[in-house]
This record gives sequence, structure tokens and C-alpha cells, in this order.
Amino acid sequence: MTEGFRSEIRESDGSLEATARVVDAGGDDDERIVEAALRPKRLAEFPGQPRVRDQLGLVLRAAKQRGSTPDHVLLSGPPGLGKTTLAMIVAAEIERPIRVTSGPAIQHAGDLAAVLSSLDEGEVLFLDEIHRMSRAAEEMLYLAMEDFRVDVIVGKGPGATAIPLELPPFTVVGATTRAGLLPAPLRDRFGFTGHLDYYDAADLETILHRSARLLGVDADGEGIAEIAGRSRGTPRIANRLLRRVRDWAQVHGSGRVDQVAALAALRLFDVDAAGLDRLDRAVLEALCRRFAGGPVGLSTLAVAVGEETDTVETVAEPYLVREGFMVRTPRGRAATRRAWEHLNLTPPVGSTTQDVLPLDDGPGRLGSATD
Ligand SMILES: Nc1ncnc2c1ncn2[C@@H]1O[C@H](COP(=O)(O)OP(=O)(O)O)[C@@H](O)[C@H]1O
Ligand SMILES: [Mg+2]
Repeated sequence: MTEGFRSEIRESDGSLEATARVVDAGGDDDERIVEAALRPKRLAEFPGQPRVRDQLGLVLRAAKQRGSTPDHVLLSGPPGLGKTTLAMIVAAEIERPIRVTSGPAIQHAGDLAAVLSSLDEGEVLFLDEIHRMSRAAEEMLYLAMEDFRVDVIVGKGPGATAIPLELPPFTVVGATTRAGLLPAPLRDRFGFTGHLDYYDAADLETILHRSARLLGVDADGEGIAEIAGRSRGTPRIANRLLRRVRDWAQVHGSGRVDQVAALAALRLFDVDAAGLDRLDRAVLEALCRRFAGGPVGLSTLAVAVGEETDTVETVAEPYLVREGFMVRTPRGRAATRRAWEHLNLTPPVGSTTQDVLPLDDGPGRLGSATD
């Protein structure tokens, strides 16, 4: 198996990618480089999320006018919707440097103290996956966010002393797929919280046209529309599919990203007409075939598809719920009529098939849903 082929599999498989992403916020190197190149740099060139964009724009502009550092910003929402991009934009808009780290990288309070005590005045501190910091670091962080002070421990054992250190004002931008997991005292220190929601097709088309231009890919409206409609409302997936369709067009087609190329490539990479990928379908199949449509606990469902509970909950579930394929009930997850229809299956007699319309699943509820 060649390297190229292996990386294709990895990219087509949302689950693997998602797992890798949790460990390492950027995916593999190629992906990271392309993603960086495709990130909008300023708020004005950031399509979609109009509410968050307007609110954040106001917060930043007001702070800049006052000549002060903006309030701390928390960004929440499923992977690939633009949290990291917006964090970079915050720094660009206020014309300040940005320091990037992540929850998993900060296991000891000392790690955080080192970062905090080296911040320059007005610097932006981006904390990705902020819900994965250790408790001790969390506590240090929210005290530092409020009082701009940190206790540095000098020495070890009984002789150790805490020396309070004044910090210059700075702005924390936190990103999380699980806002519900943040302890209240930490959540309360953020003056502005932006919930990112899935993008509609029109915004994804705008993003794709822009990406095609930046990548030097020749694409027509139909090809772009086909990709946008099957990207799970997610710019990262849209950009990735665009690159796969470009590959197909280059090798088998006319070199142009058109509808023929889009349909063929999306079939090859297991993206179905509703935009569901392999993990999404595996979850629905397990729910319908093995658990007769549910309700079933999230962790049981995750085991059935061989995935981490966290991956199922943050990557697959929000979109499936939002699109009305699945519902959360007090007794667990259940398939909807749409799920059965999508899989071409008939619900067993007497099953409690839920009949619901796609609902707008506010991100505020994402982290709080439990088994
Ligand atoms: N509104 C947007 N417009 C254009 N591209 C976007 C937008 N949001 C995200 N992207 C692209 O999607 C990819 C993933 O975005 P990122 O900010 O890393 O998502 P997150 O941090 O939420 O997982 C990046 O390559 C970025 O360029
Ligand atoms: Mg990110």
C-alpha cells in the first residue's frame, strides 16, 4: 500500500481523522498546510456564521476603539466549523500576536504558569480543546483570566513557596467541541461566547469557490453545489472533498471540478446523497439493525461501531440529530423515520420510531446531553 493511498483512506474516514484531530489539533502535515492556506484571515472575508461574526466584530472593534484588550472569547461547536480560524482572526483584527496551545498539552498547572508568565501585553492566548485541561490548570486559568495574576511555585516539597506574579492584560480565546464540559467558574470568565453552527449550502458554496480559487482549481457551479450539498455543513469537509474531486477530475476527468467529477469522487469516498460519511452511516446502521432503532445508551452505541464515545458524540451525533436522523431521549439515542428510510430499512413492528422534523440543535445542549 502506498503512502498516498493510505492517506486517502485516512482522509475519507471521518472517524480516524477525528480521533487524530483530538490528539493533534491539526491532522497530518499536508492537511495542516492546506488548511492554513485556506483559512480566511479577517472577519470580513469569513463567510457564514453571521451572528457570531457580527457579535465578535463588535466586541473586537469596541475594544480596539477603547485601546484596551478585548474580553476573553469562547468558541464552541463541532469540529471543522472555523473555531481555530476565528481565533487567528481575533489576533489579526486587534493586530496582536497569538500564542497557540491546547488543553491536552497542558497537563500540569506549571505548564500553564510557564505560558501565562511569558505572555506579552495584549497578546492572544489560543487554548484549543480547552475542556481537556487538567483541573489544576483550569483553576489557575480562571484566576489568571480574572485578576491577571498567577501564583508561581518556587522550590519543591515543604520549602516550596507561591510567589504571586502580576500578568499584563491578555485575551484568552478558548475553543471547545464540548462547552458543557467546562466548569461553570471557567465558562463565566469568558465575556463573549460564540456558538458555531453547521453552515448552509449557500455559505459552503461561497467557501468552496474561494478555496478553488486559492488552490488554482478550475471548478463550475454545479460541481461546487454538489460538493457543498454533501459536506455535512462543515467547511473542513467541504475543502477536503473539493481536493478529492479535483484529484478525480485530474486523473479520470477533464481536469475540471464539475458535477460528473463530483458525483464519481463522492461515490468513491463513501459520501452518500445526504452527505453522511462512513461513521455516520455506521452509527445509524447499528442503531437500526442491532438495537431495533433504540433507545440505546451512547456508550453502547459507540462500542457497537468500534469508536470512542467522544468521537460519536462530537463528530457524528450533532449532525445526525440536527438533520433529523436521530434523537436524544431520556433513555438514550433513537433512530427516526428518516434514518430507516435513508438506510432503506423497515422499522420492526411495534418499534418506537420517532417522527421528527430536523431540529435546530443549539450547541448549548451538545455537551450536556448524557447517556
Ligand atoms: N467560514 C469559513 N470560511 C472559509 N473557510 C473556513 C471557514 N470556517 C472554516 N474554514 C476552513 O475549514 C478548515 C477547518 O477550520 P478550523 O477553523 O480549523 O475548524 P475548527 O477549529 O472549528 O475545527 C480550515 O481549513 C478553514 O480554512
Ligand atoms: Mg481547531
